[in-house]
Parts: sequence; structure tokens; C-alpha cells
Amino acid sequence: MNPELLNQYPSIADLASRARRRMPHFSWEYLDSGTGRETCVARNITALQNIRLVPQFMKGEQTLNLATDLFGTRYNAPFGIAPVGLTGLMWPGIEQMLAKTAARYRIPYCLSTVATADPESIGPATDGMGWFQLYPPKDTAMRRDLLERASAAGMTTLVITADTPMQSRRERQRRAEVSVPPKRTIKTYWRAAIRPSWSIATLAHGLPRFHTLEKYVSSTDVAEIGAFMNASMGPFDWTYLEQTRQEWQGPMLVKGLLNPQDARRCIDCGADGVIVSNHGGRQFDGAPATIEALPAIANELAGDGVILFDSGVRSGLDICRALAMGAHFVLLGRGFIYGAAALGQRGSDHVADLLLADLESNLGNLGCNDPATLASYLPA
Ligand SMILES: Cc1cc2nc3c(=O)[nH]c(=O)nc-3n(C[C@H](O)[C@H](O)[C@H](O)COP(=O)(O)O)c2cc1C
Repeated sequence: MNPELLNQYPSIADLASRARRRMPHFSWEYLDSGTGRETCVARNITALQNIRLVPQFMKGEQTLNLATDLFGTRYNAPFGIAPVGLTGLMWPGIEQMLAKTAARYRIPYCLSTVATADPESIGPATDGMGWFQLYPPKDTAMRRDLLERASAAGMTTLVITADTPMQSRRERQRRAEVSVPPKRTIKTYWRAAIRPSWSIATLAHGLPRFHTLEKYVSSTDVAEIGAFMNASMGPFDWTYLEQTRQEWQGPMLVKGLLNPQDARRCIDCGADGVIVSNHGGRQFDGAPATIEALPAIANELAGDGVILFDSGVRSGLDICRALAMGAHFVLLGRGFIYGAAALGQRGSDHVADLLLADLESNLGNLGCNDPATLASYLPA
């Protein structure tokens, strides 16, 4: 833990404002935006903040234990890094930073199918903390190959994303002219030029490429691969989920669930758990906040599968809130990217430090030394 950084950037919001000043406008807008009028992005955050926990006092000396077991692996804390695509557009080499943070802090990092680094380079860097996220391709041979590559690279857990049945319009990204690769216009060059550290890092690293997918398109052209991805995804249905279950030997989670019946059916199809998520408000602006959807799913599964939670988490206190409402584990997407874009490797590590410090402080002030008991701190 770096005490100087803790004072300089005491919250994820401080890292986000530094990241915004360092990233070109199109990269920032890709990262930070939601869809539609972004009511879902705001709802995720405010609904979490509205969850109250009631402290219990006079418990004497407390020994806090944050270690959490998931599928036979011990993680040092009940949080991890959610899959984020097109990562190199936000900061070059970001996947390697996230992988190192995961390895150092012993927390999971889930690599996206559409990240800009491949499982072969990221799996070993995570030192056993790597997971792999699959956007379901129509072509089952491609699916099998992706799963084999993830497994061979040491990724322990498969996350299959359900909540992107089609592309979302994302108006803010359209306004910012986000495109892959970035458009070669005067505006784009100008936007990159006024962010010299990003531009120098990009020149040194090369423009972002979809390394994982190049094999299936026999091309390194990102526009071509982007079009290929859009054409080759889905339809994702229950049969597809069952087939994927047959092909993946390790734990499998379905990501993007908001409906208790869907969650139950995922478990019936052989999933080991679900991730309650609305993709950080990036797909459907009318969706409930994930913290609003969580209790009904926890109630439906009632211990039959593991429940992970994401969307809107920005602090250790938010992690406490999600655990209290029925989650077993929590993921953050934007939070870790803000940190890495703000300060590089130090920033990605700093997000883990901030979350640990905030968890410790809030659990201590609640009088709770076991995060698994947080439900008993909800108001009567
Ligand atoms: C820039 C960006 C890219 C994302 N790409 C993916 C992806 O490739 N696959 C996926 O399953 N989820 C993706 N997500 C969703 C995240 O995994 C996660 O659900 C979301 O970020 C959680 O919300 P938060 O950012 O408020 O923590 C992405 C999110 C962001 C912000």
C-alpha cells in the first residue's frame, strides 16, 4: 500500500478525473459512457448508495478476514476485475497491468473475448487468477477453440455473457465518434495530440488489435475483425449454454442476469453461478439497477449457485452493500480501468489498495469481521 497515493487519490473518483485528463476524448467516452440517456448508469450508483447498513458496537477487538473461496480457489478479497473489451484503446498494455494486479493481490481478472491482448499472453501473467469471458460465437468450432485456448493458458473460470443480444446504440459514443480503429480525421488526430502520454504510449505499443480473434479472421485489421465479431455472435439460447457446459471442464458463470427465472434456468443448465449485471448500464437503459435485481435472484437460487455482482460499484462500502444484499463476490469494470489509465500499473494496484482500505474501514466501523455475515447488518 502506498500511503502517499492514498492521500493524493483517496477514491476511485479521483483516479477517474485524472484518467479523463490523460485520455483522448474518444477513449474516455468509450469507457465512461452508458446507453440512451444513461439513466441506468446513474441508477446503478444511486440505488447502491441508498442501501443502509446498521453498525453493531461493543464487540471488543476484531480480526478482519477478507479471504474468499470460490470454486476451490482462495482469493484474498471478495472482489475482482470484470471483463472489459477494447482495453488497449483506453490505455495501451492495460491487460498486462490488470493481470499483474490480479497476481499481486490474489484477486481474479477476467479477460474479455474482445480485449486487445490474448489469453496466451495474459493467462500466465495472472499466475492462476485469470478467468476468460466468452461472447458466444455462432461457429461452434470457434467456440471450442476459444475455450481450449483459455484453458491451455491457465484460465480457471469461464464467464459467458448473455446480456448483449444485439449491439446497443450508445449515443454518447456516436457523438464522440468512437470507432475501431480510431477514424483518421483532423479531429481525431487533434484529440490524440493533446493527450501526449497516451499518444506516445500508443506509438510505442502499436494501435490496439483484437489479438484473440485474429486467428479466426486471418487478418490483423481491427475494422474487419470488429465487423466479423458483430456478424458471428449469437443467437445465444439454452441449448447453446448446455453445449458450452459440455465443452468447459472448469467453473462456468453466466453474466448479465437480472431475472430470477433466467438465473434458475442457468443453474439447471449446469452453470455454477450467475453474475447479476446490466453491463454497467451500457446495453439497455430501462434495466433495473443491479442492486434492485439482486435480492430476487438470491432468493430464487437460495444457495444453489454462486452469485456475483457488478455495475456501479465504486468503493469498498459498495462491495459491502452488494454482499449484504445476497452476492458472494463483486466485480468492477470501470473502476480498475480508471486507475490504470490514470497512473499505469501503480493506478491499477492502487484501485485494489483503495478497495481493501475502504472495505477494512467500513467493516470495522460496522463491527463486522466476516463479510459473509453482512446481511445481518441490514436494517430490520
Ligand atoms: C469499456 C467497457 C467495456 C466492456 N466490455 C465488456 C466485454 O467485453 N465483455 C463483457 O462481458 N462485459 C464488458 N463490459 C461490462 C463489464 O464487464 C461490467 O459488467 C461493467 O463494467 C460493470 O459496471 P461498472 O463499470 O460500473 O463496474 C464492459 C464495460 C466497460 C465499461
